[in-house]
Amino acid sequence: MKIAVVGTGYVGLVTGTCFAEVGIDVTCIDIDQKKIENLKNGILPIYEPGLEEMVSRNVEKDRLHFSTNLAESIQDCDVAFIAVGTPPGEDGSADLKYVLAVARGIGEHMSNYGVIVTKSTVPVGTAAKVRKEIEQALEKRGVNIDFDVASNPEFLKEGAAIDDFLKPDRIVVGVASERAEEVMTKLYKPFLLNGHPIIFMDIPSAEMTKYAANAMLATKISFMNDVANLCEIMGADVNKVRQGIGSDARIGTKFIYPGIGYGGSCFPKDVKALIKTASENGYQMQVLQAVESVNEAQKSVLFDKVSRHFGGELRGKKIAVWGLSFKPKTDDMREAPSIVIIDKLLEEGCTVSAYDPVAMPEAKHSLGDRITYAKDQFEALIDADALLVVTEWPEFRAPNFEVVARLMKQKAIFDGRNIYEAKELQEAGFTYHCIGVRTSHKEPVAQQA
Ligand code: UDX
Repeated sequence: MKIAVVGTGYVGLVTGTCFAEVGIDVTCIDIDQKKIENLKNGILPIYEPGLEEMVSRNVEKDRLHFSTNLAESIQDCDVAFIAVGTPPGEDGSADLKYVLAVARGIGEHMSNYGVIVTKSTVPVGTAAKVRKEIEQALEKRGVNIDFDVASNPEFLKEGAAIDDFLKPDRIVVGVASERAEEVMTKLYKPFLLNGHPIIFMDIPSAEMTKYAANAMLATKISFMNDVANLCEIMGADVNKVRQGIGSDARIGTKFIYPGIGYGGSCFPKDVKALIKTASENGYQMQVLQAVESVNEAQKSVLFDKVSRHFGGELRGKKIAVWGLSFKPKTDDMREAPSIVIIDKLLEEGCTVSAYDPVAMPEAKHSLGDRITYAKDQFEALIDADALLVVTEWPEFRAPNFEVVARLMKQKAIFDGRNIYEAKELQEAGFTYHCIGVRTSHKEPVAQQA
């Protein structure tokens, strides 16, 4: 089989590379010349564990190609994936201009039957627009080439994307013809060996599945953050409550960890887009509206704790921040709660010294030189009045607390991810605050804005 993947962002690059890995001939296409040149030289635009080696290996084996030439790359393809960005417009709805431009390009140059698949997260109804765009382009050319459109949402987690792609829980494909179903079955066969299903459905349902999945996961998180804040007020321990409810299989143990709010490229964007789609169609997604507002408020919870701890006197305080990316194992800073927290600290006159194992170059785009970037996690602590744990990178989990104590000016830790034991830190002389547990009798509890 031969496929084209248009868009070499996160989704496109992982998709193309993983298909090449199982022996399929793949061309990844992008209009960004520099990006394509870099990829040809093994330089990736994103950090994803294992991806760099996998790209090099497949380029070497001549199964993975990079090109800026859509016209040439689309020839003789069985399947073309559209995996370009759908940035949120001002009103929160997904902007489809890149998706539709690619569809037009495919229509202008395709030479044979193929399945054109939307892989980007797109609103319900997009595949129909893609079909129309291709039909119009073919009409203009005066040619009659048969084609199908399909919707194949991705469920990759950053930091675990390769594993998610090679061993998926499920593959969801929306199709409108048997021929397209056959092509997509053949394409995905190598990934179904672990017994997990490929689920075929109509196209609008596949498009909706992606939004519903992300919205449900975001709901679990906001719900737990709400419960965590209440636990604090009532003197309960959210860590215990989480274990207590998670052992009910209907609830499950995953995605019920309270923290400082969800971030990243998917949840915030998709929740907003679904609310918007609904309201455009005369329906209010009331639960999701609450999910979003809880999440916005949650990004301030850690800052509020710091502020209360210092009695509102933050001017001149030096704050160490461990972790900047929205979650571990990625350098992605999109919608990272760290940005909100740091902005608030700076506004109050703090200085911030941060360390992140991979996200510092990326963080400089949004935080610039308003903070200092430490060489390692311990350098960030020197003379600090408080340490904020913002991203739960593995290397932050069990630091030598004697060293931590020696380096800091004041021994106060604010743990936004609940990775430490309150008792252990208190015995080591630290003031310790986390999410959803009242760690000190004197501690003022969570307050609603
Ligand atoms: C998510 C979905 O998991 C994936 O299926 C989809 O395709 C894209 O969006 P990703 O954004 O990479 O993937 O990150 P994920 O691991 O899902 O975490 C999202 C956010 O939720 C992070 O900010 C994380 O810190 C937060 N989170 C996650 C919690 O606060 N608590 C949890 O229990 C789980």
